[in-house]
Amino acid sequence: MPDAALDAPFDSASEALIDLIASRQSTKAVDLAEPAPDDAELERLLAAAVSAPDHGALRPWRFLSIRGSARERLSDVFEAALRARDPMTCEEDVAALRGKPLRSPLILAVAAEITENHPKVPPEEQVIAAACATQNVLLAAHAAGWGAVLLTGWVAHDPTVRKALGFGEKDRLIGFLYMGTPPADRRVKKRPEPGKFLKSWTGPTD
Ligand SMILES: Cc1cc2nc3c(=O)[nH]c(=O)nc-3n(C[C@H](O)[C@H](O)[C@H](O)COP(=O)(O)O)c2cc1C
Repeated sequence: MPDAALDAPFDSASEALIDLIASRQSTKAVDLAEPAPDDAELERLLAAAVSAPDHGALRPWRFLSIRGSARERLSDVFEAALRARDPMTCEEDVAALRGKPLRSPLILAVAAEITENHPKVPPEEQVIAAACATQNVLLAAHAAGWGAVLLTGWVAHDPTVRKALGFGEKDRLIGFLYMGTPPADRRVKKRPEPGKFLKSWTGPTD
């Protein structure tokens, strides 16, 4: 048990932290305005990412910051992927897809770089570690007052998009974290009753 927890495991600072975590909510990508975290601020947020649970200490998480005109290069990549999978696609769909990376000032593309044939850590556990790191970034961003939302869509699973971002065939994109400044007047989301998701297991039923 950590020292600080010996006397008062749930002191007011811990309670405040749990409340802060519980109050995280996504912001629509179109509602994320300038400014977004700069690189130094991003590194600060990534300090939370690198404490994610990580079987085998493989550090599979990778983050690419995409901002400014690089977002238009991402639009180019999305467009090429769409035209490759559907050569008959209409120009409205192309324009809609091209607009996606331009919705927010910063996109963090998150991937799991997979160590293949690991004797103990299958690829899915590496994806889980990168997903935990992603959630830690979402929480740290929320704590720092930034808005964010994790989005995938087919582009996150498309091999040409993955390659254009510099990832290998076995690597997996966790998604695109759209980040920026949230609107001041956000509606607080109602969350489900946590007790509904907890059962006590005392042994096999048969
Ligand atoms: C791996 C992953 C991929 C997601 N992809 C999308 C997506 O493509 N489009 C979308 O509307 N929401 C997507 N979401 C859900 C949003 O990130 C968000 O959680 C959801 O809008 C609910 O908002 P909340 O986070 O405030 O509960 C995804 C969530 C996860 C975990």
